[in-house]
Amino acid sequence: MGKKLTYGMVGGSKGSQIGIVHRKAINLHSKAELVSGTFSRNFKNTLATGRELKIDEKRLYKNYEEMAEEESKRADTIDFVSIVTPNSSHFETAKKFLESRINVMCEKPLTITLKEAEELKEIARKNHLLFAVAYSYTGYSMLRYAREIVRRGEIGHVRFVNSRYISEWMAKVPFEGKNSRHEWRSDPKFSGISNCVADIGVHIQNVVSFVTGLKIKSLCARMDKFVEPDKLDDNASILINFDNGAKGIYWSSQISIGHENSLDFGIYGTKGSIEWSQEKANYLKVSKIDHPFVTLSRGSKEVDDFIKEEYVTPGGHQEGYVEAFARVYDKFINAIIKKKKGEILEQKDLDFPTIDDGIDGMRFIEKCVESSNKGSTWIKY
Ligand SMILES: NC(=O)c1ccc[n+]([C@@H]2O[C@H](COP(=O)([O-])OP(=O)(O)OC[C@H]3O[C@@H](n4cnc5c(N)ncnc54)[C@H](O)[C@@H]3O)[C@@H](O)[C@H]2O)c1
Repeated sequence: MGKKLTYGMVGGSKGSQIGIVHRKAINLHSKAELVSGTFSRNFKNTLATGRELKIDEKRLYKNYEEMAEEESKRADTIDFVSIVTPNSSHFETAKKFLESRINVMCEKPLTITLKEAEELKEIARKNHLLFAVAYSYTGYSMLRYAREIVRRGEIGHVRFVNSRYISEWMAKVPFEGKNSRHEWRSDPKFSGISNCVADIGVHIQNVVSFVTGLKIKSLCARMDKFVEPDKLDDNASILINFDNGAKGIYWSSQISIGHENSLDFGIYGTKGSIEWSQEKANYLKVSKIDHPFVTLSRGSKEVDDFIKEEYVTPGGHQEGYVEAFARVYDKFINAIIKKKKGEILEQKDLDFPTIDDGIDGMRFIEKCVESSNKGSTWIKY
Protein backbone atom coordinates (compact mmCIF):
# COMPACT_ATOMS: atom_id res chain seq x y z
CA MET A 1 0.00 0.00 0.00
CA GLY A 2 3.05 2.24 0.28
CA LYS A 3 3.79 4.71 3.05
CA LYS A 4 1.29 5.45 5.77
CA LEU A 5 -0.47 8.81 5.77
CA THR A 6 0.34 11.13 8.65
CA TYR A 7 -2.04 13.15 10.78
CA GLY A 8 -2.13 15.65 13.62
CA MET A 9 -4.63 16.15 16.41
CA VAL A 10 -6.06 19.25 18.10
CA GLY A 11 -7.49 18.40 21.54
CA GLY A 12 -7.54 14.88 22.97
CA SER A 13 -5.08 15.33 25.84
CA LYS A 14 -4.74 12.79 28.63
CA GLY A 15 -8.01 12.46 30.50
CA SER A 16 -10.21 13.81 27.73
CA GLN A 17 -12.97 11.68 26.28
CA ILE A 18 -13.05 11.33 22.53
CA GLY A 19 -9.48 11.98 21.31
CA ILE A 20 -8.28 8.54 22.40
CA VAL A 21 -11.19 6.90 20.56
CA HIS A 22 -10.13 8.69 17.36
CA ARG A 23 -6.54 7.51 17.81
CA LYS A 24 -7.58 3.89 18.44
CA ALA A 25 -9.97 3.98 15.48
CA ILE A 26 -7.25 5.25 13.13
CA ASN A 27 -4.80 2.63 14.44
CA LEU A 28 -7.20 -0.20 13.70
CA HIS A 29 -6.61 -0.01 9.95
CA SER A 30 -2.94 1.07 10.24
CA LYS A 31 -3.12 3.45 7.29
CA ALA A 32 -2.21 6.66 9.15
CA GLU A 33 0.20 7.62 11.90
CA LEU A 34 -0.07 10.42 14.47
CA VAL A 35 2.95 12.73 14.09
CA SER A 36 1.92 16.11 15.48
CA GLY A 37 -0.48 17.79 17.85
CA THR A 38 -1.65 20.46 20.20
CA PHE A 39 -3.63 18.32 22.60
CA SER A 40 -4.61 20.98 25.11
CA ARG A 41 -4.64 24.73 25.65
CA ASN A 42 -2.08 24.01 28.34
CA PHE A 43 1.28 23.35 26.65
CA LYS A 44 2.58 21.24 29.57
CA ASN A 45 -0.38 18.95 29.02
CA THR A 46 0.32 18.83 25.27
CA LEU A 47 3.95 17.88 25.99
CA ALA A 48 2.94 15.17 28.47
CA THR A 49 0.39 13.68 26.05
CA GLY A 50 2.78 13.96 23.10
CA ARG A 51 5.58 12.21 25.00
CA GLU A 52 3.27 9.40 25.97
CA LEU A 53 2.29 9.04 22.31
CA LYS A 54 5.97 9.08 21.26
CA ILE A 55 5.62 12.17 19.08
CA ASP A 56 8.71 14.14 18.10
CA GLU A 57 8.69 17.20 20.41
CA LYS A 58 9.42 19.49 17.46
CA ARG A 59 5.94 18.69 16.22
CA LEU A 60 4.17 19.48 19.50
CA TYR A 61 2.71 22.96 19.32
CA LYS A 62 1.47 25.63 21.72
CA ASN A 63 -1.76 26.23 19.83
CA TYR A 64 -3.60 25.30 16.63
CA GLU A 65 -2.46 28.47 14.78
CA GLU A 66 1.21 27.61 15.28
CA MET A 67 0.54 23.98 14.39
CA ALA A 68 -1.25 24.76 11.11
CA GLU A 69 1.39 27.33 10.09
CA GLU A 70 4.40 25.18 10.95
CA GLU A 71 2.94 21.98 9.52
CA SER A 72 2.01 23.64 6.23
CA LYS A 73 5.65 24.77 5.76
CA ARG A 74 7.00 21.22 6.01
CA ALA A 75 7.70 19.03 3.00
CA ASP A 76 6.23 16.15 5.00
CA THR A 77 3.19 18.09 6.20
CA ILE A 78 0.35 16.09 7.75
CA ASP A 79 -2.26 14.63 5.38
CA PHE A 80 -5.12 15.52 7.71
CA VAL A 81 -5.94 16.93 11.12
CA SER A 82 -8.45 15.54 13.63
CA ILE A 83 -10.21 18.24 15.65
CA VAL A 84 -11.53 16.87 18.95
CA THR A 85 -11.94 20.02 21.07
CA PRO A 86 -15.15 21.45 22.59
CA ASN A 87 -17.67 22.79 20.04
CA SER A 88 -16.86 26.51 20.14
CA SER A 89 -13.33 26.05 18.80
CA HIS A 90 -14.22 23.79 15.84
CA PHE A 91 -14.85 26.65 13.39
CA GLU A 92 -11.72 28.70 13.91
CA THR A 93 -9.53 25.59 14.09
CA ALA A 94 -10.97 23.93 10.98
CA LYS A 95 -10.79 27.23 9.10
CA LYS A 96 -7.12 27.66 9.93
CA PHE A 97 -6.21 24.15 8.75
CA LEU A 98 -8.26 24.46 5.58
CA GLU A 99 -6.53 27.76 4.82
CA SER A 100 -3.24 25.93 5.40
CA ARG A 101 -4.37 23.36 2.79
CA ILE A 102 -4.78 20.46 5.17
CA ASN A 103 -7.72 18.00 5.02
CA VAL A 104 -9.95 17.97 8.10
CA MET A 105 -11.84 15.48 10.25
CA CYS A 106 -13.85 17.49 12.78
CA GLU A 107 -16.00 16.44 15.70
CA LYS A 108 -19.71 17.20 15.76
CA PRO A 109 -21.51 19.54 16.15
CA LEU A 110 -19.50 20.98 13.28
CA THR A 111 -19.60 24.59 14.52
CA ILE A 112 -21.67 26.94 16.66
CA THR A 113 -23.75 28.42 13.83
CA LEU A 114 -25.06 27.25 10.46
CA LYS A 115 -23.37 30.24 8.82
CA GLU A 116 -19.94 29.14 10.09
CA ALA A 117 -20.54 25.61 8.82
CA GLU A 118 -21.42 26.92 5.37
CA GLU A 119 -18.31 29.10 5.38
CA LEU A 120 -16.14 26.05 6.09
CA LYS A 121 -17.70 24.22 3.15
CA GLU A 122 -16.82 27.09 0.85
CA ILE A 123 -13.18 27.21 2.05
CA ALA A 124 -12.84 23.43 1.68
CA ARG A 125 -14.31 23.59 -1.83
CA LYS A 126 -12.03 26.44 -2.91
CA ASN A 127 -8.93 24.64 -1.62
CA HIS A 128 -9.99 21.22 -3.01
CA LEU A 129 -9.83 19.61 0.42
CA LEU A 130 -11.65 16.67 1.97
CA PHE A 131 -13.71 17.36 5.08
CA ALA A 132 -15.27 14.68 7.26
CA VAL A 133 -17.43 15.07 10.36
CA ALA A 134 -17.14 12.46 13.11
CA TYR A 135 -20.69 11.08 13.00
CA SER A 136 -19.30 7.83 14.32
CA TYR A 137 -22.50 5.77 14.50
CA THR A 138 -22.80 5.63 10.71
CA GLY A 139 -19.86 3.22 10.81
CA TYR A 140 -21.75 0.34 12.46
CA SER A 141 -22.22 -2.63 10.09
CA MET A 142 -25.84 -3.31 11.01
CA LEU A 143 -26.74 0.34 10.60
CA ARG A 144 -25.21 0.24 7.14
CA TYR A 145 -27.18 -2.92 6.43
CA ALA A 146 -30.34 -1.12 7.66
CA ARG A 147 -29.66 1.60 5.06
CA GLU A 148 -29.42 -1.12 2.39
CA ILE A 149 -32.77 -2.66 3.43
CA VAL A 150 -34.49 0.73 3.16
CA ARG A 151 -32.78 1.49 -0.18
CA ARG A 152 -33.99 -1.82 -1.62
CA GLY A 153 -37.56 -0.96 -0.63
CA GLU A 154 -37.86 -4.03 1.61
CA ILE A 155 -39.91 -2.16 4.22
CA GLY A 156 -41.83 -0.20 1.58
CA HIS A 157 -42.55 3.49 1.82
CA VAL A 158 -41.39 4.89 5.19
CA ARG A 159 -44.35 6.14 7.24
CA PHE A 160 -42.94 6.77 10.69
CA VAL A 161 -39.60 7.10 12.50
CA ASN A 162 -39.19 6.84 16.25
CA SER A 163 -35.70 7.57 17.50
CA ARG A 164 -34.08 8.51 20.76
CA TYR A 165 -30.64 9.15 22.18
CA ILE A 166 -31.02 9.15 25.92
CA SER A 167 -28.48 9.07 28.73
CA GLU A 168 -28.26 9.81 32.42
CA TRP A 169 -24.85 11.41 32.79
CA MET A 170 -26.07 14.95 33.41
CA ALA A 171 -29.04 13.98 35.62
CA LYS A 172 -27.32 14.70 38.92
CA VAL A 173 -27.25 18.21 40.27
CA PRO A 174 -23.88 18.89 38.66
CA PHE A 175 -20.31 19.38 39.60
CA GLU A 176 -20.10 16.73 42.29
CA GLY A 177 -16.36 16.85 42.02
CA LYS A 178 -14.98 18.52 38.94
CA ASN A 179 -16.32 17.34 35.62
CA SER A 180 -15.06 19.67 32.91
CA ARG A 181 -16.99 17.77 30.23
CA HIS A 182 -20.23 18.55 32.04
CA GLU A 183 -19.17 22.14 32.67
CA TRP A 184 -18.34 23.13 29.09
CA ARG A 185 -21.34 21.35 27.60
CA SER A 186 -23.77 23.36 29.72
CA ASP A 187 -22.01 26.65 29.04
CA PRO A 188 -23.05 28.56 25.84
CA LYS A 189 -19.52 29.98 25.57
CA PHE A 190 -18.20 26.52 24.68
CA SER A 191 -21.28 24.60 23.64
CA GLY A 192 -23.19 27.15 21.55
CA ILE A 193 -26.97 27.67 21.62
CA SER A 194 -27.74 24.13 22.75
CA ASN A 195 -26.29 21.43 24.94
CA CYS A 196 -28.37 18.26 24.59
CA VAL A 197 -29.63 18.66 21.01
CA ALA A 198 -26.18 19.80 19.83
CA ASP A 199 -24.41 17.01 21.71
CA ILE A 200 -26.59 13.97 20.99
CA GLY A 201 -29.77 15.14 19.22
CA VAL A 202 -27.63 15.69 16.11
CA HIS A 203 -26.65 12.02 16.18
CA ILE A 204 -30.35 11.08 15.94
CA GLN A 205 -30.85 13.47 13.05
CA ASN A 206 -27.74 12.16 11.29
CA VAL A 207 -28.43 8.46 11.81
CA VAL A 208 -32.07 8.72 10.64
CA SER A 209 -31.03 10.74 7.61
CA PHE A 210 -28.25 8.19 6.84
CA VAL A 211 -30.53 5.14 7.05
CA THR A 212 -33.69 6.53 5.42
CA GLY A 213 -32.34 9.23 3.11
CA LEU A 214 -35.36 11.32 4.16
CA LYS A 215 -35.14 15.09 4.42
CA ILE A 216 -36.85 17.06 7.18
CA LYS A 217 -39.59 19.39 5.92
CA SER A 218 -40.61 20.96 9.23
CA LEU A 219 -40.18 20.37 12.94
CA CYS A 220 -41.62 21.30 16.32
CA ALA A 221 -39.30 21.13 19.34
CA ARG A 222 -39.61 21.55 23.07
CA MET A 223 -36.24 21.85 24.75
CA ASP A 224 -36.19 21.42 28.54
CA LYS A 225 -33.70 22.40 31.19
CA PHE A 226 -34.28 20.31 34.30
CA VAL A 227 -30.96 20.53 36.10
CA GLU A 228 -29.87 23.80 37.73
CA PRO A 229 -27.49 25.62 37.35
CA ASP A 230 -27.13 24.34 33.75
CA LYS A 231 -27.66 27.17 31.31
CA LEU A 232 -28.75 25.06 28.34
CA ASP A 233 -31.17 22.24 27.45
CA ASP A 234 -30.64 18.79 28.95
CA ASN A 235 -33.69 17.13 27.37
CA ALA A 236 -35.68 17.66 24.16
CA SER A 237 -38.81 16.29 22.47
CA ILE A 238 -38.97 16.92 18.72
CA LEU A 239 -41.77 16.18 16.23
CA ILE A 240 -40.74 15.83 12.60
CA ASN A 241 -42.47 16.04 9.20
CA PHE A 242 -40.39 14.50 6.42
CA ASP A 243 -40.48 15.49 2.77
CA ASN A 244 -42.07 12.18 1.69
CA GLY A 245 -45.02 12.67 4.06
CA ALA A 246 -43.56 10.44 6.80
CA LYS A 247 -43.67 11.61 10.43
CA GLY A 248 -41.24 11.18 13.28
CA ILE A 249 -40.53 11.67 16.95
CA TYR A 250 -37.02 12.29 18.30
CA TRP A 251 -36.14 12.35 21.99
CA SER A 252 -32.68 13.37 23.17
CA SER A 253 -31.90 13.41 26.85
CA GLN A 254 -29.06 13.56 29.35
CA ILE A 255 -31.27 13.19 32.42
CA SER A 256 -32.80 9.75 31.72
CA ILE A 257 -31.66 7.81 34.74
CA GLY A 258 -31.12 4.15 33.88
CA HIS A 259 -29.71 4.82 30.41
CA GLU A 260 -26.04 5.14 29.50
CA ASN A 261 -26.00 5.66 25.73
CA SER A 262 -29.33 4.47 24.35
CA LEU A 263 -29.31 5.53 20.73
CA ASP A 264 -32.18 3.55 19.19
CA PHE A 265 -34.46 3.82 16.22
CA GLY A 266 -37.51 2.14 14.71
CA ILE A 267 -38.33 2.84 11.07
CA TYR A 268 -41.82 1.78 10.07
CA GLY A 269 -42.81 1.41 6.42
CA THR A 270 -45.81 0.19 4.43
CA LYS A 271 -44.35 -3.34 4.08
CA GLY A 272 -42.25 -3.76 7.21
CA SER A 273 -39.98 -2.19 9.78
CA ILE A 274 -36.44 -2.19 11.11
CA GLU A 275 -35.30 -1.53 14.66
CA TRP A 276 -31.73 -1.03 15.91
CA SER A 277 -30.09 -0.08 19.19
CA GLN A 278 -26.53 1.18 19.66
CA GLU A 279 -26.09 -0.79 22.87
CA LYS A 280 -26.95 -4.00 20.95
CA ALA A 281 -25.32 -2.82 17.75
CA ASN A 282 -24.58 -6.27 16.35
CA TYR A 283 -28.26 -7.03 15.78
CA LEU A 284 -31.05 -5.66 13.62
CA LYS A 285 -34.71 -6.53 14.06
CA VAL A 286 -36.46 -6.85 10.70
CA SER A 287 -40.21 -7.32 10.47
CA LYS A 288 -42.18 -7.89 7.28
CA ILE A 289 -45.94 -7.67 7.23
CA ASP A 290 -47.63 -11.12 7.62
CA HIS A 291 -44.30 -12.75 8.54
CA PRO A 292 -42.81 -13.45 11.96
CA PHE A 293 -40.17 -10.85 12.84
CA VAL A 294 -36.50 -11.86 12.79
CA THR A 295 -33.45 -10.56 14.59
CA LEU A 296 -30.47 -10.70 12.25
CA SER A 297 -26.90 -10.74 13.50
CA ARG A 298 -23.82 -9.53 11.61
CA GLY A 299 -22.98 -13.12 10.67
CA SER A 300 -26.44 -13.84 9.16
CA LYS A 301 -26.42 -15.00 5.54
CA GLU A 302 -28.95 -12.27 4.71
CA VAL A 303 -26.36 -9.53 5.33
CA ASP A 304 -24.80 -8.53 1.99
CA ASP A 305 -21.24 -9.56 1.21
CA PHE A 306 -20.18 -5.97 0.47
CA ILE A 307 -21.00 -5.14 4.10
CA LYS A 308 -19.28 -8.28 5.44
CA GLU A 309 -16.16 -7.56 3.36
CA GLU A 310 -15.54 -4.52 5.60
CA TYR A 311 -15.67 -6.49 8.88
CA VAL A 312 -12.63 -6.21 11.10
CA THR A 313 -14.29 -8.37 13.75
CA PRO A 314 -15.92 -11.54 12.35
CA GLY A 315 -19.65 -12.14 12.75
CA GLY A 316 -20.44 -13.81 16.07
CA HIS A 317 -17.89 -11.58 17.80
CA GLN A 318 -18.89 -8.14 19.01
CA GLU A 319 -18.21 -5.11 16.82
CA GLY A 320 -18.09 -1.97 18.95
CA TYR A 321 -17.74 1.78 19.00
CA VAL A 322 -14.06 1.83 18.01
CA GLU A 323 -14.68 -0.44 14.98
CA ALA A 324 -17.59 1.79 13.89
CA PHE A 325 -15.45 4.91 14.28
CA ALA A 326 -12.65 3.11 12.40
CA ARG A 327 -14.95 2.39 9.44
CA VAL A 328 -15.76 6.10 9.14
CA TYR A 329 -12.06 6.96 9.31
CA ASP A 330 -11.09 4.22 6.87
CA LYS A 331 -13.39 5.59 4.20
CA PHE A 332 -12.09 9.13 4.77
CA ILE A 333 -8.46 7.97 4.68
CA ASN A 334 -9.05 5.88 1.53
CA ALA A 335 -10.44 8.99 -0.16
CA ILE A 336 -7.33 11.00 0.81
CA ILE A 337 -5.07 8.21 -0.52
CA LYS A 338 -6.95 8.12 -3.82
CA LYS A 339 -6.81 11.90 -4.13
CA LYS A 340 -3.08 11.92 -3.37
CA LYS A 341 -2.58 9.51 -6.25
CA GLY A 342 -4.25 12.07 -8.50
CA GLU A 343 -7.28 9.87 -9.15
CA ILE A 344 -10.76 11.34 -9.55
CA LEU A 345 -13.00 10.76 -6.54
CA GLU A 346 -16.44 9.34 -7.31
CA GLN A 347 -19.54 9.61 -5.14
CA LYS A 348 -18.94 6.08 -3.77
CA ASP A 349 -15.53 7.24 -2.47
CA LEU A 350 -17.28 9.80 -0.28
CA ASP A 351 -19.33 7.30 1.74
CA PHE A 352 -18.35 8.91 5.04
CA PRO A 353 -20.07 11.79 6.87
CA THR A 354 -19.04 14.88 4.94
CA ILE A 355 -19.29 18.59 5.59
CA ASP A 356 -22.83 18.50 4.15
CA ASP A 357 -23.83 16.24 7.05
CA GLY A 358 -22.17 18.70 9.44
CA ILE A 359 -24.17 21.54 7.87
CA ASP A 360 -27.41 19.53 8.19
CA GLY A 361 -26.65 19.04 11.86
CA MET A 362 -26.21 22.77 12.40
CA ARG A 363 -29.49 23.51 10.58
CA PHE A 364 -31.22 20.94 12.82
CA ILE A 365 -29.87 22.55 16.02
CA GLU A 366 -30.84 26.08 14.93
CA LYS A 367 -34.35 25.03 13.88
CA CYS A 368 -34.95 23.17 17.16
CA VAL A 369 -33.88 26.19 19.19
CA GLU A 370 -35.99 28.53 17.05
CA SER A 371 -39.06 26.34 17.46
CA SER A 372 -38.59 25.92 21.20
CA ASN A 373 -38.01 29.66 21.73
CA LYS A 374 -41.20 30.44 19.82
CA GLY A 375 -43.26 28.33 22.22
CA SER A 376 -42.75 25.03 20.34
CA THR A 377 -44.33 26.11 17.08
CA TRP A 378 -43.82 24.31 13.75
CA ILE A 379 -40.82 25.68 11.86
CA LYS A 380 -40.11 25.20 8.17
CA TYR A 381 -36.79 23.51 7.60
N1 LIG B 1 -18.68 11.55 17.73
C1 LIG B 1 -18.96 11.20 18.96
O1 LIG B 1 -19.54 10.13 19.17
C2 LIG B 1 -18.55 12.09 20.11
C3 LIG B 1 -18.48 11.59 21.43
C4 LIG B 1 -18.04 12.45 22.44
C5 LIG B 1 -17.69 13.77 22.16
N2 LIG B 1 -17.80 14.23 20.89
C6 LIG B 1 -17.43 15.63 20.54
O2 LIG B 1 -16.01 15.74 20.70
C7 LIG B 1 -15.66 17.06 21.15
C8 LIG B 1 -14.83 16.94 22.43
O3 LIG B 1 -15.62 16.32 23.43
P1 LIG B 1 -14.96 15.54 24.69
O4 LIG B 1 -16.07 14.93 25.44
O5 LIG B 1 -13.84 14.69 24.22
O6 LIG B 1 -14.40 16.77 25.51
P2 LIG B 1 -13.30 16.77 26.66
O7 LIG B 1 -13.61 17.93 27.51
O8 LIG B 1 -13.20 15.40 27.28
O9 LIG B 1 -11.94 16.99 25.85
C9 LIG B 1 -11.65 18.18 25.17
C10 LIG B 1 -10.17 18.21 24.86
O10 LIG B 1 -9.88 19.36 24.07
C11 LIG B 1 -8.75 20.07 24.65
N3 LIG B 1 -8.87 21.45 24.23
C12 LIG B 1 -9.83 22.35 24.54
N4 LIG B 1 -9.64 23.52 23.86
C13 LIG B 1 -8.52 23.33 23.11
C14 LIG B 1 -7.80 24.15 22.21
N5 LIG B 1 -8.18 25.40 21.92
N6 LIG B 1 -6.69 23.64 21.62
C15 LIG B 1 -6.26 22.37 21.89
N7 LIG B 1 -6.92 21.56 22.75
C16 LIG B 1 -8.02 22.03 23.35
C17 LIG B 1 -8.86 19.80 26.14
O11 LIG B 1 -7.63 19.97 26.79
C18 LIG B 1 -9.28 18.31 26.09
O12 LIG B 1 -8.13 17.51 25.86
C19 LIG B 1 -16.98 17.81 21.33
O13 LIG B 1 -17.24 18.61 20.21
C20 LIG B 1 -18.03 16.69 21.44
O14 LIG B 1 -19.30 17.09 20.96
C21 LIG B 1 -18.22 13.41 19.87
